[in-house]
Amino acid sequence: MALQTNNPTTTAAWSKLQKHFDAIQNVSMQEMFKEDTSRTEKFNIQWNNFLIDYSKNNISQETMTLLVELANEMGLKEAIADYFGGAIINKTENRAALHTALRAKETEVVNVNGVNVVPEVYEVKAKIKAFTNEVVSGQRTGYTGKTFTDVVNIGIGGSDLGPAMVVEALQFYKNDLNVHFVSNVDGDHVNEIIKKLNPETTLFVIVSKTFTTQETLTNSETIRKWFLTTAKQEDVAKHFVAVSTNMQKVTEFGINPDNVFPMWDWVGGRFSLWSAVGLTISLAIGYDNYEQLLEGANDMDIHFQSTDFDKNIPVVLALLSVWYNNFFGAESEALIPYTQYLQKLAPYLQQGTMESNGKSVGRDGKPVDYQTGTIIWGEPGTNAQHAFFQLIHQGTKLIPSDFIGYVKPLYGDEDHHDKLMSNFFAQTEALLHGKTADQVQAEFDKQGLDAATAAYLLPFKVFTGNKPTNTILIEKLSPRTLGSLIAMYEHKIFVQGIIWNIFSFDQWGVELGKQLANSILAEINTKTVKEHDSSTTFLLNYFFENK
Ligand code: F6P
Repeated sequence: MALQTNNPTTTAAWSKLQKHFDAIQNVSMQEMFKEDTSRTEKFNIQWNNFLIDYSKNNISQETMTLLVELANEMGLKEAIADYFGGAIINKTENRAALHTALRAKETEVVNVNGVNVVPEVYEVKAKIKAFTNEVVSGQRTGYTGKTFTDVVNIGIGGSDLGPAMVVEALQFYKNDLNVHFVSNVDGDHVNEIIKKLNPETTLFVIVSKTFTTQETLTNSETIRKWFLTTAKQEDVAKHFVAVSTNMQKVTEFGINPDNVFPMWDWVGGRFSLWSAVGLTISLAIGYDNYEQLLEGANDMDIHFQSTDFDKNIPVVLALLSVWYNNFFGAESEALIPYTQYLQKLAPYLQQGTMESNGKSVGRDGKPVDYQTGTIIWGEPGTNAQHAFFQLIHQGTKLIPSDFIGYVKPLYGDEDHHDKLMSNFFAQTEALLHGKTADQVQAEFDKQGLDAATAAYLLPFKVFTGNKPTNTILIEKLSPRTLGSLIAMYEHKIFVQGIIWNIFSFDQWGVELGKQLANSILAEINTKTVKEHDSSTTFLLNYFFENK
């Protein structure tokens, strides 16, 4: 089945939402909480060891009912069935988008063009498991017989961000292997990594779905050259493995075909950590933990497929995002995990969200006349509080924020954790209530501040509050809960794309820059500036003169 296409703004639900918005936009959340003491009971979802409290949003029951109506009118139910069922929902690339099949149970059947792909997925998983165990146990060694101490993941975009984020997030579960990531074509990046390595004990995992990506091939060649300053050509096979769909290019690079971990064109780069792209994750945390990550994602897949929309975590989060993006005119969303382990979650989800939903042409091929993709940004709390929270609290922009926290710390340090979590709870409360002029004045009175100073300072110290937040409280950071969390955001992205009537699984927008860079590189190599606008010509000449 093809995804339905219609402009969301022409649906009956959209018109009702517009009217409803006009009526509700000036009702503050403070008032809503006062009026309805059972508000939190209505607007929270408890699932497995997740608690999602979305009561601190500018919504009423009617808002949620209408948003669910919008999802229904946009064919979300059918779209979910197409998504999980292997339909060609990535139409402009003529592909399915089946990262969910990578974490399906072995007994499930997921057909792509009439062929069940689950057995192939499990074959590759068995290969990842065997390889991981051989490396981690020391059974597989380098060219001088020494065990591997370091693993370098060479890849970019989805072939880097997912593994890098997960390895960072799950470092508590890590073994002794040192894991490095090389992504940028910036030579200084790869050279900084190389200087930490011993070629005899380093394993290189080249990850590239296409095996044509400039950054990854350049870095791989630089690393191979460095490797061959001490090792021989035949040693490459022992130290370099690849994850790719492009067998020909991989073998041309000199990688032993036995050391190639296949993936499929129905896995999008930014959703690929569940495929062999996650090999580095498996090496870092061991195969059993890696499998737990996949199972956690599968838990969320089941929840997403089988739960009514009003209690469905990814659906509710996506609908709230549409509400702010399209009715309140919010431009961005912040992600604030209260754990340092998730410091790479925002960059990871920037690709997931912005490469997927940064589109301005609808599924009907026509330019959209409404806002789509949101800007995602964020940093762990409490660091974020000392960086950009001023703007969220008192700036002019509306920034709906997700606060992600854990009930239990991993090292059991209660003193730190209680302090961390007191900030976590305090911030969403402060963002909701703010501080009124009366409260500020009462503080001044208590301090005995003189009237003139108090009158001057008062407006600066008032917080309007009424800033929306979702609280995502999870029992503990583990491979399984992390898998569920990532899948939750993946499905949120999918739901948004369905409602915005766009194709979320292609990324044509990254092509133009790549093409131009190739032609400019040819000019740099020959030191000849061809025809450009005056600014680019000026810049290139300056570069040549000062190089
Ligand atoms: O940024 C564009 C993109 O195509 C991403 O979607 C992908 O994750 C990345 O480049 C890397 O591509 P590959 O895995 O083919 O090297």
